[in-house]
Amino acid sequence: MSKRNIVITGGAGFIGSHVVRLFVNKYPEYNIINLDKLTYAGNLANLKDIEDKPNYKFVKMDICDFEAFCKLMQEERIDGIIHLAAESHVDRSIKDPFTFARTNVMGTLSLLQAAKLYWESLPEKYVGKLFYHISTDEVYGALTMNHPEGIEPPFTTTASSGGYHHAYGKDFFYEDTKYNPHSPYSASKASSDHFVRAFHDTYGMPTVVTNCSNNYGPYQFPEKLIPLFIHNICHRKPLPVYGKGENVRDWLFVEDHARAIDLIFHQGKVADTYNIGSFNEWKNIDIIKVVIRTVDRLLERREGEDMDLITYVTDRLGHDARYAIDSSKLQKELGWEPLYQFEEGIEKTVRWYLENQEWMDNITSGEYERYYDSMYNNR
Ligand code: NAD
Ligand code: DAU
Repeated sequence: MSKRNIVITGGAGFIGSHVVRLFVNKYPEYNIINLDKLTYAGNLANLKDIEDKPNYKFVKMDICDFEAFCKLMQEERIDGIIHLAAESHVDRSIKDPFTFARTNVMGTLSLLQAAKLYWESLPEKYVGKLFYHISTDEVYGALTMNHPEGIEPPFTTTASSGGYHHAYGKDFFYEDTKYNPHSPYSASKASSDHFVRAFHDTYGMPTVVTNCSNNYGPYQFPEKLIPLFIHNICHRKPLPVYGKGENVRDWLFVEDHARAIDLIFHQGKVADTYNIGSFNEWKNIDIIKVVIRTVDRLLERREGEDMDLITYVTDRLGHDARYAIDSSKLQKELGWEPLYQFEEGIEKTVRWYLENQEWMDNITSGEYERYYDSMYNNR
């Protein structure tokens, strides 16, 4: 395996920290630079176990700082960029869309332009280089629950890969599904995806884009559904279910996403797009009940006794009804498949949060707690 100098942006965040850990441990011959601004969502405690490894370095930087990133590209002779840094929470994007446009659109453009200038200055130019952009299924918009007549969802249906869907409808997001983002978050991610592809089409930069479904697992910031609810159940706080809890999301265990990113970084086709997901759709209210039962059982409470914490609140503005990813292309072309069944992944996740109360307490005290209270009390 040849030596590579790789920047992973957003490596102190949820998914980024799993990607950094995987690359640092699996590729001792690579130099892995974790570039992160450490916003409210970035936490170096996520990487405690690898921070002393000789092939790992942390650089605190804003992806919008074009000059600083140009310098880093040159000094570290970067040949690969795995770009995860972003503002990632839909509710925050509804309150403050400008921050999302700045980081997700301008930040991505800044990285692309710096990479272009550096790589084009080299004798070999783009040979052996890659800009890998991590995106979301939300850019495709929302699907409906158009299940076949006479069949009550969730139902099992055959995917084009020959696998099966645990599905709430007949339609899925494919790589060629037309972009139709609805939230400021997904609009900013869609825009960044277009810029990445434009840099390939215009300048010949080797790029790849992946669009992934909802991730869950350890180290997720407790503003997102699953860790927020685990935290609230532990402390017997209300569980704010948006609308009727009928919205459907397609859940993937985060380590399976990190494995897909590793595979695509090394074997993905340049200029291509891959969807990542595990055919695992759940209605919010059903997943919430699974989480309540699991927390109760592991805390040795009576299983289900915390169901009365469920509190229906005003719906999220523009709340997308259903996401469902078809990842057959990735499965067929590169042989990826998820290792975790949902039951196993959720058990592992809940156990991790219960065993890492200190991690959670450090995050949920202070600024974040106040922000959360203001969001929740405004409903
Ligand atoms: P996260 O919010 O947990 O982490 C984002 C990280 O980016 C944080 O460490 C933060 O400090 C850093 N960051 C934010 N703005 C920055 C800036 N201007 N400069 C440098 N660093 C900055 O996000 P996540 O859930 O881990 O998502 C990572 C990526 O994966 C995002 O691009 C997101 O759109 C995408 N994605 C997430 C999911 C999911 O379910 N979480 C699914 C599909 C795709
Ligand atoms: O689909 C991929 C996307 O998944 C990623 O691109 C985003 O970065 C990530 O945040 C996630 O977006 P969602 O909006 O789907 O995730 P969230 O955890 O915020 O919400 C999941 C569902 O639960 C959604 O239908 C809204 C609902 N919800 C969420 C919260 C935080 C509630 O009912 N109550 C809540 O308190």
